Order: sequence, then C-alpha cells, then structure tokens
Amino acid sequence: MTYKNKHFYIENISVEKLSKKFGTPAYIYSYGNLKNNIENFKRYFKTFEPIICFSVKSNSNLKLLSIIGRFGLGADVVSKGELLKALKAKIKPEKIVFSGVGKTVEELRFAINKKIFLINAESENEIIEIEKIAKKNNKKINIGIRLNPDTDAKTLKEISTGKEENKFGLTKKKFLYLIKKYKNSNFINITCLSVHIGSQITNHIPYKRMLDVINKTINEAKYKFSYIDLGGGMGIQYKKNSNKLNYKKYSSLIKSFLKKNDVKIIFEPGRSIIGNVGYLLSKIIYIKQTKKRNFIILDSAMNDMMRPALYKAEHMILPSRLSKAKIKKKHEFVGPICETTDKFLSTIKYQKLNQNDVVIICDVGAYGMVLSSNYNLRAKPPEILVNKNLSKIITKRQKLTSII
Ligand code: LLP
Repeated sequence: MTYKNKHFYIENISVEKLSKKFGTPAYIYSYGNLKNNIENFKRYFKTFEPIICFSVKSNSNLKLLSIIGRFGLGADVVSKGELLKALKAKIKPEKIVFSGVGKTVEELRFAINKKIFLINAESENEIIEIEKIAKKNNKKINIGIRLNPDTDAKTLKEISTGKEENKFGLTKKKFLYLIKKYKNSNFINITCLSVHIGSQITNHIPYKRMLDVINKTINEAKYKFSYIDLGGGMGIQYKKNSNKLNYKKYSSLIKSFLKKNDVKIIFEPGRSIIGNVGYLLSKIIYIKQTKKRNFIILDSAMNDMMRPALYKAEHMILPSRLSKAKIKKKHEFVGPICETTDKFLSTIKYQKLNQNDVVIICDVGAYGMVLSSNYNLRAKPPEILVNKNLSKIITKRQKLTSII
C-alpha cells in the first residue's frame, strides 16, 4: 500500500480507479494485508501453537470471515447473530468461543445445541442457567469462567475491560468460589480461565500484570484448567512512529507462564488481524475556508466510521494523489452529519486539496463497518475486496429504498 508515481495504490489498483469503479464512500480491504497479518500472528506465537479465534465483533463481513476461517482461525462471538454468521462462513462449531456479559438463555441454548467449543461465562447467574440447560439435556457442558484481573490495560478508558469497576468478568474471590462450587458438578465442566483486559494495547507490561494475576489465581484455585483464553487487545499503529506492541516480549511472557502451567492458550484477536486491512475512500464534497481553518467536508461521516466520534480515535487521512503544494493552515476533515463530533481529524498543515479529490481514511478494517449506522438516514457504504489486480464487491452499497 504505497504511492506509485504519486498515486496511492491498494495492492495493484490505484485508489482513483477504485473510487471511479465503486463510488465513494467505500470500504476497501486488502487480501494481501489480511494474509500477512494472519501469518505474522501465527509466527509470533508459533512455539506454543495457540488456538486463534478471530473476534467477529471487529469485522463480521461474510467473505472476510470465510477467508479467515480458511486460514485456520476459529471465531470469538458475542451474540447469536455473530454465531450464525461465523457458522455461515463455514467456521466449525468446535472452533467457536462465545463471550459476553449478557448472553440470553435463548442464546446459550442455541450455542449449546450447536456444540460450540467453549462458552465463557461472566456471572454466577449465567452458570446457573447453563447448568439448567445441561440438566435438561442430561449433558455435561464445557465452560470457561472470565476472570476480571483488575489490571489497567493502559489504553483508552472506553475500551478498557479488565479493571474491577468494569462490568466484565468476575473478581478473583468470586472466581475461586465458583471453581469450588462447580468443580465436582455433573453438568458443568470448567475447562478454561478466560480474560480480556482491553483493546488497542501497545505495551506488554499490562499483559505481564494480567499473567501474574492469572498465575496467582490458578495456584489459589488448585484446579487444573485445560485452556487459558487470553482474549485479544493487541494494538496496531494508527500513526507513524506511535508505540507498537512488542510481540516477542508478549510471547516470551506467555512462554514462561507455560513453564509453570501445562495449558493450551487461546487468543481472540480482532484489530491486529483486520485493522490495517481496511481503507475508507471518501470524496471531498466541499472545502469551506474560515479564518482559522479549512473544513474539508467529506462524503463519508460518523455513520460510516464512528471511532473518531466515539473515542476521539485518530486515523490517518491520505490524499489519493500527492502534490507538492502545501498549505500551512489547520485542516479539519469532517462529515456532512449534523453533529459537531462528526469530525475525523485535525491537522496543522496539509497538501493543497480540491473539491472532488479522493482521500483515504486508513486502518478502518476493525470496528469500522461493524459500527456503521443509518444515522441521518444515510445508506451504508459498500465493501470491496482487492487481491492484486482484482477487485470485487463483497457487500453492496445499501439502497436508500431499503431504509426508507
Ligand atoms: N475478546 C473480547 C472478550 C473482547 O471484548 C474483545 C473486544 C476482543 C476479544 C477483541 O479485541 P481486539 O483484539 O480487537 O482489541 N470498538 C472499540 C473496540 C472495542 C473492543 C471490544 N472488545 C474500538 O473501535 O476501538
């Protein structure tokens, strides 16, 4: 994904060509990036061969899920909808993990009927419901219990999940009580301890603290788990030169953990697999100049990509064609929605832009399309997959007629 002759290319196709062919706004995914990410992820942790379950909440496109499945990954789902989608993408039930604080009894029943690999329970009430279903069906059901390790993930507070004040998982005390309560149950088989401390983690230290708490908990529980599900959270670089997770260090922390504990590791990565795979192409509708800033009004908005409005997340915005002319003035890239937070990025300078130019909002593969909505009654953009010289629509642009 580079500039060739000043034109931005996704694989072997220029963005200008893609935007003419498919219109804007449009999500474009690179097959090559996806393949690299999966291969790299496997390589980082190859010494202990973890079970890798892709976190479907980060991107639930059917075609992408089936590619991910074909690369050997399972799925981490959080709703019946995601479970159905993973199955439809031909991901085998024995490779699917179900997480989430509020699975309904109907969802639990459905997941149990489908014989999925693991249900990670997050409350005593949930385990009681699973036990009822198990008794009714006269089966023993494998579950994991999610521990809240009270560990600061050192990421945005909106995407931190491992502190005691967060709704996720159970405190160590409650966790130990549940192990005691269910260890001899005829209907519940606790096979896994699961955690997930947050997302977009770019430092290995929070993971070290998390592993220390898990280790302590296992020792106190005096219980043999078959699996430890470490969740996802591995951060990516949204900005050049920003912090990068050191996978080598994270992997060696896990290796020393495994010296003390004979278990199989499960991961639930989302962003690290799909984040840098996606681009959102947008066209400049108008440029409005004020004394202090230029508003670059795009045809994409917070309904298409919500992360900046929701978390003040910053995504790089690149021009589709480079020019030498620079303007030293604040540029604010905004969408047409009637909300002040409908703003993608502010810069201190930018190259000269013109009406109808196409720009690329980068790294939107994770939590991009899945968070899109029809706010302001705007139709959702299409999704396109690019592989070398080929480009293919994998989700059609929504028709206004279907939402009106
Ligand atoms: N496992 C569990 C239990 C999770 O809650 C999550 C994400 C993941 C795995 C995958 O985490 P990842 O590897 O993608 O960091 N919408 C926010 C992110 C929310 C993450 C929610 N949980 C964003 O756009 O940054």
